[in-house]
Amino acid sequence: MNIQLPDVTLAYTLEGQGIPLIFIHGFPLTRRMWQPQVAGLKQAARILAPDLRGHGESQPAPGPYSMELFADDLNALLDALHIQEPVALCGLSMGGYIAFAFYRKYRHRLRGLILTATRAAADSPEASAARIQTAQMVQEKGTAPLFQNMATRLLSPETYAQQTDLLAELGAIMAGVSIEAVLGDLEGLRQRPDSTPLLGGIHLPVLIIHGAQDSIVPLAEAKAMHAAIPRAQLVVLHHSGHLPNLEQPEDFNQAVRQFLNEI
Ligand code: MLT
Repeated sequence: MNIQLPDVTLAYTLEGQGIPLIFIHGFPLTRRMWQPQVAGLKQAARILAPDLRGHGESQPAPGPYSMELFADDLNALLDALHIQEPVALCGLSMGGYIAFAFYRKYRHRLRGLILTATRAAADSPEASAARIQTAQMVQEKGTAPLFQNMATRLLSPETYAQQTDLLAELGAIMAGVSIEAVLGDLEGLRQRPDSTPLLGGIHLPVLIIHGAQDSIVPLAEAKAMHAAIPRAQLVVLHHSGHLPNLEQPEDFNQAVRQFLNEI
């Protein structure tokens, strides 16, 4: 489905009954990455999964996309869909950075946070420089080399070797991301603020789900958030890399289901 917001048209999936549960995808991905969650959790929650501006079936939009801009879009989407009751928000990686931006501005709309494969810290100077280099490469050579490189880094070595269907699905998901979206994301990622100072003051229920073999955001980042957020629980999925919701969908969904029962 599509909806016209004040300055952009967003595509979204809305399915199921119960607590509103919003899924925010990572970089360079689309809402299609949440298919196992839509299928497995729609009995337990009312699931809303948008394609972020410029991504997937949402309207192409010029960047850069700050995490705050994405959070503003999400706020406008909730208004447009008349979802007024507090929501649970699940963000993966860049989606987690957006969850922090949403918390900063719109925490009154939240009843819980699920932070997966993400970190609170801003980019280090090295990470920021690497984003600029990636953007230059994408401008020169297109998105194909980036997507090839990401496919090997997103999945655990085990998933990469054994789950060939998932590898193909990941290729199809990334194919839905335009060059403008990749460039818009890279600049927004690079400029995002440090969310570490927020952590001690988050008094919402928080579930952190992390793959033990995540090579993009190391498990230590999840452990640090777990230690700093007062009411956080940590679930480690041992066979997963950076996409635990796709690599171990049943275990991921079970952790979310339990969290929803608790909040
Ligand atoms: C993501 O998966 O959203 C990105 O890899 C996050 C990042 O590069 O920091």
